[in-house]
Amino acid sequence: MEKRSQLKDEFLLQHPYLLVLALALGFIIMDPFQMSPVGGHKFRPVKNDIAPYKLVMENWPKDNMSRLSLGNLEFVDEIFGPESLEFDIWGHGPYTGTEKLCARGVDSTTSKQWKVEPWCGRPLGLRFDKKRGDLYIADAYYGLLVVGPEGGVATPLATRVEGKPIFFANDLDIHNNGSIFFTDTRDNFVKFHYRNHFLILLEGEASGRLLRYDPPTRTTHVVLDGLAFPNGVQLSKDQSFLLFTETTNCRY
Ligand SMILES: *[C@@H]1O[C@H](CO)[C@@H](O)[C@H](O)[C@H]1NC(C)=O
Ligand SMILES: *[C@@H]1O[C@H](CO)[C@@H](O)[C@H](O)[C@H]1NC(C)=O
Repeated sequence: MEKRSQLKDEFLLQHPYLLVLALALGFIIMDPFQMSPVGGHKFRPVKNDIAPYKLVMENWPKDNMSRLSLGNLEFVDEIFGPESLEFDIWGHGPYTGTEKLCARGVDSTTSKQWKVEPWCGRPLGLRFDKKRGDLYIADAYYGLLVVGPEGGVATPLATRVEGKPIFFANDLDIHNNGSIFFTDTRDNFVKFHYRNHFLILLEGEASGRLLRYDPPTRTTHVVLDGLAFPNGVQLSKDQSFLLFTETTNCRY
């Protein structure tokens, strides 16, 4: 046994490149200085049942008329990361949430931007209440907020639910009866920040929720939990059902 390991040592010494390679590989696998994106986090990948690729792609609505190519690309290099487009009750718009203001014109995909983002907020979901003109906002850092028709500073509506903070509000829709349905993509902020959304997807943990805020009672309720990266929300026109996406599982 000893002889064998001695042989191995000699072999590695005679092939220094292999030694360096072995050390590098060990360094990457062990990550002693926690330099990897998941360093210091309890990264526990979860298996999810994703619909077969073929099934998804066969049912994917195709732009077979290439209508998208007829459009113009606006605000190139001016706006980064818009996720919602909304028009107000006068038809003005589109309104959107962007990263640029916070980044002061810096490319918002840089880590410089990430440092200031928790302070600036990241408005992901926007919806106008078409009756009153209020703008509701799902912000990745600040939860559910509202701005009156005259604009100004947003008022927080929901930052906690059932005693626990809302960590990653993502999108919303407004029911005819005034209730706001919105997604909280993940309930464990300590583990992964909003900006690590790729790691949330990679790990596949299902700790997201669909929430409902009721303005008359100013209360927030959990409608569904255990969701894998819930994202966009849309109520049907007749309000009889609600669609939402689970990004990790590529389904709605
Ligand atoms: C495009 O797809 C639509 C809906 O699937 C279909 O009705 C239409 O005939 C298609 N057009 C062409 C040019 O293939
Ligand atoms: C609005 O309707 C939804 C769906 O039926 C319901 O869950 C919610 O409690 C209602 N909100 C109010 C304020 O009545």
